[in-house]
Amino acid sequence: MASLTHALTAHTRLVGIIGWPVKHSLSPSMHNAAFAARGMDWAYVPLPVSPKWVKEAVLGLRALGFRGANVTVPHKEQVIPFLDHLTPEAQAIGAVNTIVVEEDGRIWGTNTDADGFLNDLLAHDVQVEGEPVLVLGAGGAARAVVYALARAGARVTIANRTLGRAVELARQIHMVLPGASFRVVEFSAESLTREAEAHTILVNATSVGMWPDVEASPWPSSTGFGRIKVVYDLVYRPRLTRLLRDAQAWGCRVIDGLGMLVRQGAESWRLWTGQVPPVDIMRQAVEEALREG
Ligand code: ATR
Repeated sequence: MASLTHALTAHTRLVGIIGWPVKHSLSPSMHNAAFAARGMDWAYVPLPVSPKWVKEAVLGLRALGFRGANVTVPHKEQVIPFLDHLTPEAQAIGAVNTIVVEEDGRIWGTNTDADGFLNDLLAHDVQVEGEPVLVLGAGGAARAVVYALARAGARVTIANRTLGRAVELARQIHMVLPGASFRVVEFSAESLTREAEAHTILVNATSVGMWPDVEASPWPSSTGFGRIKVVYDLVYRPRLTRLLRDAQAWGCRVIDGLGMLVRQGAESWRLWTGQVPPVDIMRQAVEEALREG
């Protein structure tokens, strides 16, 4: 892990990550590398918070003079009642991944996953406006992706193993973005084979294929990718998942989940510091931390 390059003093600005556990988080490496690169007297600390102390942890940020924090599993929804207000993103996604503490003590929450995802698509020159996009999954990660895509004007289809969760996700995002159109389809091989002919972009927002289950894929093995041109996998451990390898062999352009991870972090960093984040430094730090395991 990247080590701090400066001594901590009473002047050091503090941010951190609240989760349970947080020991595997790549965020401390990513954010501290960015502070070091800019010569800033800031530190980002892992804050393991048991589920029974979530309220005390959120209010404690203010008491302890923190500028803010990231929030990770399992607290992304649990922190909400203790915040003074939420941005429309956090409201729509129903989860907070970034807390900001203002000088006057007000604490607000937002969610940078949607912007992180869209910024990464932009960086890869992938246009989604008007495009038919097939999203696999209906959990927390899928929520951010579906909201981001709908806001950007994509025509979104959701497929999820538990169909009811996909229906509920579409219903909730439709309430905040009434102009957006959604379809919900079954997660079966037959259904996905059919949908592959009607979509140009595929996004995996399920956890299937994540280490250690690296030979698993959310896409049916008997099926090609039809008219799909771009496959985006939110999984980043491993970088090249089974899904991306199969898609690459079919001739699709593939994008791994590292960019979204880096860019959601970069957006949090921007909110806390008010400065333009050094995205490339943050990416390098995450790549290094991943290599070190
Ligand atoms: P996250 O916050 O990472 O999205 P989550 O909310 O637990 O985590 O959601 C995990 C997603 O992966 C869900 O869409 C889940 O499908 P279900 O809603 O049916 O549970 C999906 N998922 C997990 N394991 C899966 C598997 N073996 N096959 C298909 N989908 C799976």
